[in-house]
Amino acid sequence: MRNITEHNITDAVIGRFENCADPRLKEVLTSLVRHLHGFVRETGLTEAEWMQGIEFLTATGHITDAKRQEFILLSDTLGVSMLTVAQNHSKPAGATEATVFGPFHVASAPCFDNGADISGGAPGAPLFVDCTIRGSDGAGVADATVDVWQCDQDGFYDVQYKDNDAHRARGVLHSDAHGRLRFRSVLPVAYPIPTDGPVGQLLVATGRHPWRPAHVHFKIQAPGFETLITHVFRAGDPYLDSDVVFGVRASLIADFVAHSAGTGPHAREIEGRYHTLAFAFVLQPG
Ligand code: BEZ
Ligand code: FE
Repeated sequence: MRNITEHNITDAVIGRFENCADPRLKEVLTSLVRHLHGFVRETGLTEAEWMQGIEFLTATGHITDAKRQEFILLSDTLGVSMLTVAQNHSKPAGATEATVFGPFHVASAPCFDNGADISGGAPGAPLFVDCTIRGSDGAGVADATVDVWQCDQDGFYDVQYKDNDAHRARGVLHSDAHGRLRFRSVLPVAYPIPTDGPVGQLLVATGRHPWRPAHVHFKIQAPGFETLITHVFRAGDPYLDSDVVFGVRASLIADFVAHSAGTGPHAREIEGRYHTLAFAFVLQPG
């Protein structure tokens, strides 16, 4: 085809996918081209603006490495991550809702016994978590694999410390025979997502704040159930209604109850103030 115009170029590009052997790939790329071309037409995009977009994506690639995933930040802050979670994990009433995965999960986190201290020395006030993992019939899910990760009192995940390779405030645990899971960690705080890259510049340019409300991440896997990727958010956090990545669900907000020094869970003496969190997860069959 010659003499391509602004009016027929979309069909011309889509026509080149004619021999694509993978029908889903063909469907996704066809839609992507239609929407990309629609965006260029709707905005009357100039060549200079498109080059600015390409430079932005190039910078996003350059800052991305094994520890820093700027493309996930971009997807999260544009609401694409939460949209895919919402449309792929709409849960029946009663099942715990899912939310974004985020860029700070580590596949090789250390394993701990039920009841252990997973803080690894991360700075922060002690937090004692006591949760149950049940199916929708109310029966406890034994031996569920539970991945936990969170920030410390300064709002940083262990992987964000340049001079640190130790795992802190993260770990993998297993629920007991009744579906109960307990561990000690530190109180998470609200934190800004990393702003020293192109996504941070985009937030500034669009007048947005970079904050996430305080939360603990959970990934819960058990045979016969859909894997649940979610957070528990701290009630009262000022950013619950303006999470920069749109991840908050009312059903995931819980009280992190403050206690003064004294005898804490596990009959241990705690020197300073500490917090407790109780949460009941309900898994969906899958
Ligand atoms: C997080 O909760 O770890 C997170 C999620 C999205 C972007 C940045 C951080
Ligand atoms: Fe987080």
